[in-house]
Amino acid sequence: MTTLIISPDITWTSRAQQAFIVQGLPCEVAYNGKDAQLMAYHKKYSYFVLDLDIQNHPALEVCKYLRKTCPQSKLIMTVVSNTKLDEMLLDEKKLLKMGVTQVLFQPEPESIVGAIQDIGQIRKWKNVQETGKPQEPDKDEEIIDSEFSRIKISELFGDALAVFDYYIRLGSNRFVKIIHKGEKPSKDQLTKYESSGTKFLYFLKKDRATFISYQNDLAKEMIKSSSANEGSKVVQAMKSTTDKYFEEVFTVGIQPNLIEEGKSICQNMFDAAKKDQTLSKFVNDLEQFNPAALSHAFLVSFFSALICKDLDWAGKKTVETLALGALFHDIGILQLPPEIQEMDPSQMSAEQFNLYQTHPQLGAEALKSIPGLNVGVIQIVLQHHEKLNGSGYPEGISGHKIYPLAKVVALADAFSYFLKEKELSPIDGLKLFLRNHDNLTWYDPILMKNLIKALK
Ligand SMILES: [Fe+2]
Ligand SMILES: [Fe+2]
Repeated sequence: MTTLIISPDITWTSRAQQAFIVQGLPCEVAYNGKDAQLMAYHKKYSYFVLDLDIQNHPALEVCKYLRKTCPQSKLIMTVVSNTKLDEMLLDEKKLLKMGVTQVLFQPEPESIVGAIQDIGQIRKWKNVQETGKPQEPDKDEEIIDSEFSRIKISELFGDALAVFDYYIRLGSNRFVKIIHKGEKPSKDQLTKYESSGTKFLYFLKKDRATFISYQNDLAKEMIKSSSANEGSKVVQAMKSTTDKYFEEVFTVGIQPNLIEEGKSICQNMFDAAKKDQTLSKFVNDLEQFNPAALSHAFLVSFFSALICKDLDWAGKKTVETLALGALFHDIGILQLPPEIQEMDPSQMSAEQFNLYQTHPQLGAEALKSIPGLNVGVIQIVLQHHEKLNGSGYPEGISGHKIYPLAKVVALADAFSYFLKEKELSPIDGLKLFLRNHDNLTWYDPILMKNLIKALK
C-alpha cells in the first residue's frame, strides 16, 4: 500500500509526505528518476506520484519502466501546466495511453493523498466506522430514479456493515433511506423487509464501485472461513457483484481499479469452485440455479472456473487471465448497432450475422488500449468463437493454434448459451449438450470431461 513520490521539488515532497503521515499512509520519496527506478526494482509500491519535471532519467522513461515492471500499480503524473505538455508534444490522452492512471496539474501537495484515495476506492469502505444501533428510517425523499442502482435483498450478506446508505423505493422518484452508512443490518431485519414484500434495496450509483469491492471482500472472507458452508450464498453474491460490475463498466469504462475488481470477482469464483461440496450443492439445487435470471458474463465466468478448477496449470496468473477473458469476452458486442446487440444470433439475416461476427475483433481492439492488461485476455476475447475443427470465426484456426484459455471460454460460452436457450438446468442441459455430435468436434474433449466431472 506504499506510495512512492518522485519529484525534484524538496519543499513540495516534504509537504506531501507530511500529509501521508497525518493520514497514517506509508509513503517514500525519490528525488530523481534513477533512484526511483532502483527503489521500484527492490520494493513493491502500490502508487507512484511522478513529476514530469524529474531529472536524471526523464519522467517518460521512468513511466515506461514503471509500467513494465509494476503494471498493477497506479501512477499519477503531476504536471506544471498545459504549456509544459505542449513543449514536450504531449497531451493528457497520450499520457493515459502510456499507462498513466491520472494526470494532475500543479496539485497542492496535500491533495495527493485525496487523489490516491480516490483511485483506491477499492479500500475506501474500510474507513467506514460502525455507528452502533440501527437508526429509524429517514423521511422519504425525492431523488430521481436514474440515480439509483438496485440489489435483491436476498443477494446481500446479512450482519455485514452497510458501507453506504440503502433506500427503499416508494414510487416514481421517491425513496426512503432505511439503512444508514455504518449500520449493521441483521439477517432478521433483511428477512423482515423481504417478507413484507420488499424485494429490492436501492443505493446511489456513485456507490456502485464501493459495493463491488465490498461484496468481493465479503465473498473472499466467506470462502476462506472453514465454517463457510454457504456456497450458494457466495455465488449469489458474486452474481450480483458481476451484474453491478458491468453496470459500472458500461457507465465509466474499463478503469484500472475495475480491472482489479474483475480479477477479485473471478478469483473468488474460482476459489468457490474449488470448494467442491458447497458448489456442487448449489449447482444441484435447480430452484436456485435459474440460467434465465443470470447474466451471460457471469455464467461464462462461472463455468470457466468450474472447467478449470482441477487443472494443474491453473495458477494464480492463469486464473486471472482466464477470468478477465471470460468476463469481457463479449465486450465487442457493445460496439455493434443496438438492434443487433438485442438480437439472438439465430434470428439474424446473413448480413447481420456477418456484422455480429466482428465482435471478437472489436472487443480485442477495445481492450488493447488498456495499460497493463495481460495479452492473454485479449487472445481469449479474440478467439472465443474459434472451434477445434476450424469451423469457427474470426480466423477459422483449429486445434493447438487456438489459445488454450480461449478454448475454455469457448466451451463455457457455448454451454451457457445452450442452457439459456433451452431453459435447462446445468445438469439436464449437459446431457443434451453431449448428445449433439457437433459439440464434441467443436470443443476440447479434456475440457468437456472437466465440465462433466464438475457437474456430477
Ligand atoms: Fe461472443
Ligand atoms: Fe458470449
